[in-house]
Order: sequence, then C-alpha cells, then structure tokens
Amino acid sequence: MSLRPYIVGNWKMNGLRSTMADARAIDRAAARYPAVDVGLAPPFTLVHAMAEAAQDSAVGGQDCHAKPNGAFTGDVSAPMLLDAGAGFVIVGHSERRAIHAEDDAAVRAKAEAALVAGLSVIVCVGETEAERDAGKAEAIVAGQLHGSVPQGEGAADRLSVAYEPVWAIGTGRVPSVDDVGAMHRSIRADLVKLYGAAGKGVRILYGGSVNAGNASELLAADEVGGALVGGASLTAENFAPIIHAAAMLVEG
Ligand code: 13P
Repeated sequence: MSLRPYIVGNWKMNGLRSTMADARAIDRAAARYPAVDVGLAPPFTLVHAMAEAAQDSAVGGQDCHAKPNGAFTGDVSAPMLLDAGAGFVIVGHSERRAIHAEDDAAVRAKAEAALVAGLSVIVCVGETEAERDAGKAEAIVAGQLHGSVPQGEGAADRLSVAYEPVWAIGTGRVPSVDDVGAMHRSIRADLVKLYGAAGKGVRILYGGSVNAGNASELLAADEVGGALVGGASLTAENFAPIIHAAAMLVEG
C-alpha cells in the first residue's frame, strides 16, 4: 500500500446517543494505529457529538446538499457539516443513487460543494450484479467516475473514491481479490486521465461486506488504499481488527 491507508466506517441509518460508547471505543482503537487514517460517518444527528468526542479519527457526513443553504426541507449542506465538526462527507453512495435517484451530475455537484466548503470527499461508485454479469462492470464504473468526481483546480487533493459493488453491500459476498485489483487498477488509470499526476494520490477504497476475516486480503489487493465499511463499523469489536489489518500492511 503506497498511500496512507484510510479506513472509514459508514454507520448508515444506525446510531443513537446511547451508541456513542462504540464511537469512543473506535476512536481509542484509531489512536493505537497512527499509521492509519480512520474516519466514521454517523447519521447527521450524531456528527456534532462524535466530532466533540473524537481525538484520533475524523468524523464525516453520509451525504450533503449541493447548495450551501436555502429552502430544501430535510437537507443538510456541506458548510453545516463543517460547522458541526465534520472533516469529510461521503457522496454518491449506491443507496443514495438508488433510493434517492441521485445521478452522476447530482453527485458531482455535491462533491464540488463539499470541497468548496473545506471538507474532504469520498465519491462512491460501483456496478450492480446484472451489470457485472453482462461484463459491463468496468465500463459502468468508469462512466460513474467520469460523471461524478469533482472538477476544477486542486479537486483531486481532498478526494477519495470508494469502489462498492452494489451486490457486495450487506450481502456477505465479496469479489475475488483479482477482480478487486482489476477494478482498482482501472479506476486508477481513469483518475490519472482525469487529474494527471494528482490522480495518483487519490485513495481508492474498497467497500462491500468488509469484515475482520477478509480485510487483510482485500486491503492487500492492487491499488486498494483502504476500506469503506458498513455493518462491521458499528462496534469497535468488529471495526478495530479492520484498522489493525490496514496497519499491519504498512507496518509489516
Ligand atoms: P457493508 O460493509 O455493510 O456491506 O456496507 C458497505 C457500504 O455500503 C459502506 O458504505
């Protein structure tokens, strides 16, 4: 792994104030592995509390609006996330793309809004099972990437990309290490096309059923710079071994 590993937990619509103990325990685990960047993206309601409690991990949002403010009932903007203590935001998660009908242009607008606000951003891409079965996985992911990553001067500097095959999310199924490596190499080539040399510094995270048992081999795949973890990020018991696996890859 040539870049600093980045292990991010996406709590999705999980977490109450009563689960802050888990967030604190994850933050303590992060402190034990200084070679690894650790992030946690709780629901909006916990962003501020987590940011206040976190000392060795970054806190992020799971989505943001493309506009800084306005008449958008129920939405939260990137400057609001920053104000609440967030350092990053995830945009374009497949659950947002599917359930909230977000297209590539909407995801790009959110990513650019995040950067303007001063946040780092993780842009998610990934194919469905039908797309993979049809042999279109790399083309679909390349299309999403070209359509949804931020443009403009310095856009690559605070960008990470998460490759999350839709069929691997929450299913316990993961692609082979070879398939992960092939997709990550393809994403890297596209990032270099899009950003030139700066594209080499963008971390490409793998997401989809990452757990303590499979993290080491997934993190060791070609061009994998970290993991975006759902279910296994909800407790320190399950998440800390994934951070440990990333640390072992860089520290040996
Ligand atoms: P799981 O780790 O629960 O499969 O979720 C992955 C994910 O969607 C992270 O964003």
